[in-house]
Amino acid sequence: MADGTAPTPEDPEQIQPKGDAGVNLLTRGGHPDFLDLPWGQPLAQWDHPRLVPMAHGISRHVVRFVRYDDRVYALKETQRGVAQTEYEILRDLRDEHLPVVEPVGVATDLHSEGGLNAAEDPDSAMLITRYLDFSLPYWYVIGRDGPVLADDLLDAAAVLLVRLHLDNIFWGDFSLSNVLFRRDAGALMAYLVDAETAEQSRTLSDEMREYDLSIARENVIGGLLNLQAEGRVEEQIDPLAIADDLSGRYQRLWNELTKPEEFSLDERWRIERRVRRLNDLGFDVEEMSINRDGTRLRIKPVLIEEGHHSRELRRRTGLDVQENQARRLLADISSFKAWLERTSEKEIPRAVAAARWLADVYEPVVEAIPTEMGERLEPVEIFHQVLEHRYYLSERRQSEVDNLEALDDYMRSILSHRPLERQLQLGDEFRQVDDGNDPENEY
Ligand SMILES: Nc1ncnc2c1ncn2[C@@H]1O[C@H](COP(=O)(O)OP(=O)(O)OP(=O)(O)O)[C@@H](O)[C@H]1O
Ligand SMILES: [Mg+2]
Repeated sequence: MADGTAPTPEDPEQIQPKGDAGVNLLTRGGHPDFLDLPWGQPLAQWDHPRLVPMAHGISRHVVRFVRYDDRVYALKETQRGVAQTEYEILRDLRDEHLPVVEPVGVATDLHSEGGLNAAEDPDSAMLITRYLDFSLPYWYVIGRDGPVLADDLLDAAAVLLVRLHLDNIFWGDFSLSNVLFRRDAGALMAYLVDAETAEQSRTLSDEMREYDLSIARENVIGGLLNLQAEGRVEEQIDPLAIADDLSGRYQRLWNELTKPEEFSLDERWRIERRVRRLNDLGFDVEEMSINRDGTRLRIKPVLIEEGHHSRELRRRTGLDVQENQARRLLADISSFKAWLERTSEKEIPRAVAAARWLADVYEPVVEAIPTEMGERLEPVEIFHQVLEHRYYLSERRQSEVDNLEALDDYMRSILSHRPLERQLQLGDEFRQVDDGNDPENEY
C-alpha cells in the first residue's frame, strides 16, 4: 500500500510512533498513517519534505499542508478539546450531506524525543482534514475573476448559510476565510471549512438565524476591509454594501424556501407550482405541511433539501456532481434525447437517452482530457466549458463543431493558460502571497 495507507477502512485506530517522540493519532481509515511527520515540533517550525505551500485563507491558528501522493491534507494546530470537537462536528455535518471539508483525524499527546512537549503545552493538538480539491479561497476568486464572480460568491455563501439553517445549525463564525469555493458550471458552490463554533439543535429560532447572519455581515465587512488595506481589491468596492447584499440574498432565498402561502381550495395547482419553484432553485421539498380551514388552504414546506438536480442526475447516470453542473448536464441530456428522437424518428425512453449520452457524449470528452489539463479544472467543469466553447466556435464558423474538436480548441486556446486549480499553490495563482507561517500575514 503506497505511503503507509492505513489497512483498515473506516475503523478509527490508535497508532503509536516508533522512538521516544510521541503522538496519539486518531485517524479515519483509507488515509496515510501520518507517522512520518515531525509531531514533536510546533507546526510553525516544521521543515519537512511533505509540506506544500497551498493557497489559503486567513486563520488564527497555524495551518499548514502536507502531501501524500496526489492527496493533500490540512493540519491545524489547536487545543485537544477544540480539535476533537471540530472533528466530530465536521463528521456529523458530512453525515448530513452538507458541503464541508472531510475530517481525517486528530493528533494529541504531541511530544518530542526528550519526552517534553515541544509546544510546551500538554494540551496542544492538531486537526487533520483532507484538502478540498478544486477549492479556491475568496481572495483568489475576487482577485482573479473580478466582480462577476464576486456576485456568484455571494450567492454561494447565501446558499451555504441557508442550508445550515435549514438543518438547524448555528455556525457562529461565518467569514470569507471560513468558506471555500468550487467552480460550479458558471457559478460557485461554497463549502464550510471551519466548524469550530458550529452547533446543531432541534430547532433554530429566527433570532439565532439573524444573529448568525449579523456575524457573517461583520466578518465579511472585516475581510473586505483587510483586502482593501492590502490593495488586493479596488478602493471603490463598498464592503458595507456587499455585506447588505449578502443579507438580502440570504433573506430572499430563505423566504422563498420557507414562507407559508395561503389560497383557496380550488387553487390546488399552487402546491405543485411551489414545489417546482423550489426545484428550480435547486431544492427538493421532502415534506410539505398542508392545512385546510374550510375553503382555505395554507401550505408551508417544512423539510427542504438542497441538490434537486444533482440527485436527479445521480439517479439517471450515476454521476456525482455539484448542483449547477448537474443542471447543465441534465439540459444536455435533454437536447441529446431530442436529437436522438429527431434522427431516429421515434420516441426514446429517458433511461436509454441518459445511458447513451453518458457513453457517447460525456465519457468520450472526459476520457480525452490529459491528466495535466485535469489539474487545471475539474473534468466536469471542463465538459461544461467545452459545451460553451462549442457553441461559440460553431457560431463563429457558422457550422456545427463536434465536442472533441471543441475540447481540443478549448484546451489549446484557453485551458492551457489557466492556473492549476486542483490544488492551488501559492505562486500558481495570479499574485504571490507570503506563506511565512505568520498567521497575521496570511490570506
Ligand atoms: N481541508 C481544507 N481544504 C482546503 N483548504 C483548507 C482546509 N483546511 C483549511 N484550509 C485553509 O486554511 C485556512 C484556515 O483554516 P481554518 O479556518 O480552519 O483556521 P482557523 O485558524 O480555525 O480560522 P479562524 O481564524 O477562523 O478560527 C482556510 O481559510 C482555508 O483556506
Ligand atoms: Mg478559519
